Amino acid sequence: MESLQSVLTDLNQLYPIINHWLHLMSAVIWIGGLAFLVMAVTPGLRKAVPKEYVKPIADTFYRRYKRVVGALLVVILFTGGINLYYVNQLMHAQTGLGIPNHPKYLTVFFIKLSLVVGILTLFLYTVIFKTEQTGEETPEEKEEQLREPIPYQRASLWMGLFIILCAAALKHLHQ
Ligand code: HEM
Repeated sequence: MESLQSVLTDLNQLYPIINHWLHLMSAVIWIGGLAFLVMAVTPGLRKAVPKEYVKPIADTFYRRYKRVVGALLVVILFTGGINLYYVNQLMHAQTGLGIPNHPKYLTVFFIKLSLVVGILTLFLYTVIFKTEQTGEETPEEKEEQLREPIPYQRASLWMGLFIILCAAALKHLHQ
């Protein structure tokens, strides 16, 4: 009987671990992919190929990456909500009070959520609006496409980095 109980306790620990793992993995792949795009793919293409090929090649990579991010988005929102549930339970067990009674945690959480809405909006912009080359760009637009072949790629990376900063702060706002 005791061993059955310990197996069940272990299982209860397993769910939050798997959930946290999925959340972390999605964050690593999403933000890591953005960092690779900004830090390696874009400068690499600018050096390796003629100007007019930078945008079409970056678009080819991004077309595939967009599908991956679309799936990660669903996982990250779902597992984020479940994370919140487990953290709330943990806080209750430790202090007798849940997340709504921890104003610092709530503040950082809402900052994180606002940044998530921001990065989501930038991502959806690249999905909804056609951002590929038409051949009718003005010289300024061409220059911009060379600087940022994927629209808002740097702003998205910065948001991602600050989301991770918020996640780190949240972690240290409870034991
Ligand atoms: C781009 C989207 C997101 C990224 C990159 C991200 C990133 C992360 C990372 C890296 C952690 C791990 C913190 C750690 O264990 O040290 C984390 C934890 C967490 N995330 Fe997210 N997250 C995102 C979206 C969300 C969303 C939408 C929610 C809620 C609906 C959420 C809720 C949480 C919660 C509650 C934790 C646990 C924080 C704690 O330890 O108190 N996340 N997130």
